[in-house]
Amino acid sequence: MRDGAARLGRLHTRHGVLDTPMLLPVINPNIRTIEPREMWEKYRVNGLITNSYVTWKHEKLRESALADGIHALLDYPGVIVTDSGTFQSYVYGDVEVGVEEIVEFQRDIGVDVGTMLDVFGRPDMSREEIEHAVEETAARAPASLAAAGENLLLNGPVQGGLHEDLRAEAGRLMCEVEGEHRGFAVHPIGGIVPLMERQRYRELFEILLAARATIPPNRPIHLFGCGHPLLFPMSIALGADLFDSAAYALFARDDRLLTPTGTVKLGELTEWPTHSTALFSYTPAEVRAMERNERSVLLAHHNLEITQAELARCREAVRNGTIWRLAEQRSHASPRLREAFEWVLEQFEETEEGPVGESSLRTIASTDPVRGSSEQFSDDIDSRPHLLHLNALLAMRWRRPGSWWDGSSNSPERVVILTGEGPPWRDTALGTAIEALADEPRTVVLISTPIGLIPFTLEDVSPWCHIDCPESLWNMILDEDEIDVWLDDLGLGDIPLDIHICQPDPEGEAGAENRAAIRTWIDRCAIVDKLSLLCAISPEDACSLTEGMTARRSRTDRMINVNFGDEHCISPRLPDGALSLTLIGARRLHALNPTAPSRFDEGVTASDSDHPGIPRVLLMDDAIPFVGLGRNVIQGFVLGADAHLIVGQPCLVVDSHGNLVAHGTANATADDMAFFTKGIAVKVRDGAMKDELKET
Ligand code: GUN
Repeated sequence: MRDGAARLGRLHTRHGVLDTPMLLPVINPNIRTIEPREMWEKYRVNGLITNSYVTWKHEKLRESALADGIHALLDYPGVIVTDSGTFQSYVYGDVEVGVEEIVEFQRDIGVDVGTMLDVFGRPDMSREEIEHAVEETAARAPASLAAAGENLLLNGPVQGGLHEDLRAEAGRLMCEVEGEHRGFAVHPIGGIVPLMERQRYRELFEILLAARATIPPNRPIHLFGCGHPLLFPMSIALGADLFDSAAYALFARDDRLLTPTGTVKLGELTEWPTHSTALFSYTPAEVRAMERNERSVLLAHHNLEITQAELARCREAVRNGTIWRLAEQRSHASPRLREAFEWVLEQFEETEEGPVGESSLRTIASTDPVRGSSEQFSDDIDSRPHLLHLNALLAMRWRRPGSWWDGSSNSPERVVILTGEGPPWRDTALGTAIEALADEPRTVVLISTPIGLIPFTLEDVSPWCHIDCPESLWNMILDEDEIDVWLDDLGLGDIPLDIHICQPDPEGEAGAENRAAIRTWIDRCAIVDKLSLLCAISPEDACSLTEGMTARRSRTDRMINVNFGDEHCISPRLPDGALSLTLIGARRLHALNPTAPSRFDEGVTASDSDHPGIPRVLLMDDAIPFVGLGRNVIQGFVLGADAHLIVGQPCLVVDSHGNLVAHGTANATADDMAFFTKGIAVKVRDGAMKDELKET
């Protein structure tokens, strides 16, 4: 499930795999508040970050690291990431080490992921100074990658201060550098510590969105110095993969406790605001009475536990598609975070030109618009990326019916909005819809939901039909201005409007015969609308396909098999109201456009058409024998894909001549498919070449 720009990832290193999103606790090699070994054994922290410059500068540490390696020096068997001294140059002015020298040192002490010596761009610097920081960092990149050699993975920091164009430019410059062995493994966003110290979260998220405009999806993004749990959900929802922080130890030294909703002073606490195994057997008064050092070590343990627990919660939320909702909930914990969250929503709703706008659009388009799970109502519900995606599809692809149940094909006479009842509307509103259509066949029937108007034909599409909200909201009629906006979006602004309250058993003129005819017509419209909305089939093509359509119904009165002529072509997806194709159905949609999409190396361009046809994935020849028999498509075998691919919705797999190889459900966006080499690109439902392949 794709929610916002969040993703789960795996970063492979010589000392293990980092499962992202994750936090690298900062270890100061001189002051080990919590021993790395304890982090590894007790807290299962499998990666940490320490400073190579501090190690290099202290003779004893340097010699020990060079003789025995950094893993022995820290007594830690997991992944060790190091920073380069840039932050020290920001705090103390300058550092004495050379660009290649510090990378060579990280290589020689056996670091897993090192960092080049970037130039820190402070938010108070002039644009010229920031430009210089970006250019100089990029100029140092080739020599740094060369010094890293084959084994050391390297961080390529993205500077750029508060300028969205410079952040995007820095992302582009740092991503295009290729070393002899590889480019940068990770891109940390640098220069953000001063913003976080002053709670300038709006700018933090602006920077993250801007940088992401040019960083390809296969490069992990690290927020340098970000480690307060309050910021994790939103940062992850906007695409951050790695965090690092000394906050757990620094805050503890100040008698401050980290919680997922902010920082709490030990000061006058009577009871703990959040629980951890570290503090469970003490009262705040007992901790206050402890000797200073003992107290700060204990609080550091608590802070680390809370940090790890919040990251685990975030990963689970990414897994089940609720990270955006978590970010939304957390946004209420701090006025500054709320302000930043609202700013992000504005960018999503009114995307402007530029890197932030580009990233915002990509974030919306990469979400699964249709989900089987329930959708919790909140004041921010309309701005959730997946609902913006679904509503954008509705506005762009839905069309009013071209012909009516009585055989006429003129323009609609009226729009009827059904209100007063919640889902399932096929039980609560169907009778009223049928009577409205019997009364005036040329009626567009819409349903009023707490998040807007939808065509009756989409009554079982989730999340519209799975909104978890107070009963009273189903009875609420949208106000006139809202109705006008929705009708305009649906292209119905010019048509007379009636509002009908749903009746359980409406009285009306429609006889049994007409009722049956109307029901058949509604079923057909539902398939046409879903093919248009979710498969990008033009309404004209969808109408031709569904001419004479028949459907088999379940015991709960839902369409389960849809036949075009006597061929079973579609199986509606009962949990979310979307469509599954059969192989015959896939062949019918393929026949509408039997060509191949362009290859990624020819440049993917979005089609100008609102209905460019069912999206296609172009498969490498090597994979045809497997995928043609029904195996999943793996990302590394994809040569091209239509930009309008929707995660979770049907797509076709074709060869370079446009022949159908298989059909299935997209598991990634076209952008992901262009860059990733591992993971499933298409979950294949059926291979289309079983007969040919069996013969050979
Ligand atoms: N730590 C915190 N911020 C930065 C940064 O901008 N660059 C590097 N190298 N380390 C950091």
